Amino acid sequence: MSLKINFSNYENIVFFTGAGMSAESNIPTYRGSGGIWHKYKFEEYACQVAFDRDPEKVLEFHKIRRKAVLECTPHNGHHAIAKFERSRGGVSIVTQNIDGMHQRAGNINITELHGSLFRVRCLNHGTHEDLGAFTEFKCSCGQYLRPDITWFGDSLDQGVMEKALSLISSCDLFISVGTSGVVWPAAGFPEIAKKAGAKCIEINPEPSEMSYLYAETIQGKAGEILPDLLL
Ligand code: APR
Repeated sequence: MSLKINFSNYENIVFFTGAGMSAESNIPTYRGSGGIWHKYKFEEYACQVAFDRDPEKVLEFHKIRRKAVLECTPHNGHHAIAKFERSRGGVSIVTQNIDGMHQRAGNINITELHGSLFRVRCLNHGTHEDLGAFTEFKCSCGQYLRPDITWFGDSLDQGVMEKALSLISSCDLFISVGTSGVVWPAAGFPEIAKKAGAKCIEINPEPSEMSYLYAETIQGKAGEILPDLLL
């Protein structure tokens, strides 16, 4: 990789990450080879209708995912972004990932667009957060605990969306890592950044739906490219 960036030229830097960011931590992506949606139908495991129909089936799926993620660790790419955030101001992470890997690598300024595997909601008592495997399916009040995740057919949390849009429309460097750019509204973020005048860079071993939008595309893996680029 030859791209050199003088980061002191930029005040507000956004890392926009997708499932590919965690692939080298052995967390499967959704649509790549061995992707989650090739193995599980999201209509049966990741939407409100499925949860209403068979909550135990949906909760068992998320329990398996939580357990699998807890057996994985952040890789050099996650650590490079965390070290980069600690080294200067004006660094934000806007992630589509629900795996908590950026947090575990030590990043602070994280906006989770699609929620988290490690939070659940009770209709009566609101959101619970637990970074453990969280085996309980029901709240003490007897309600099933719905994963605090944006499933297919859900709208994004309005507050989260507003925060993401304000970060992206005011950034001057936008670095996208490991997203296929097919899920909206997140897929629209690169264009918003570009229209706001940001320099847009994509890191992905393969072309994505939005590659045409980027000033630079680096074809490579997050864990290999990010340490070189940032440190
Ligand atoms: N480094 C960087 N990128 C990678 C790597 C890697 N090591 N391995 C794969 N990729 C890229 C793939 O080429 C692909 O473009 O990561 C992308 C993963 O795409 P998806 O599986 O579609 O994941 P994502 O874009 O995050 O999906 C968006 O869809 O299923 C919903 O809510 C879910 O947040 C998710 C959203």
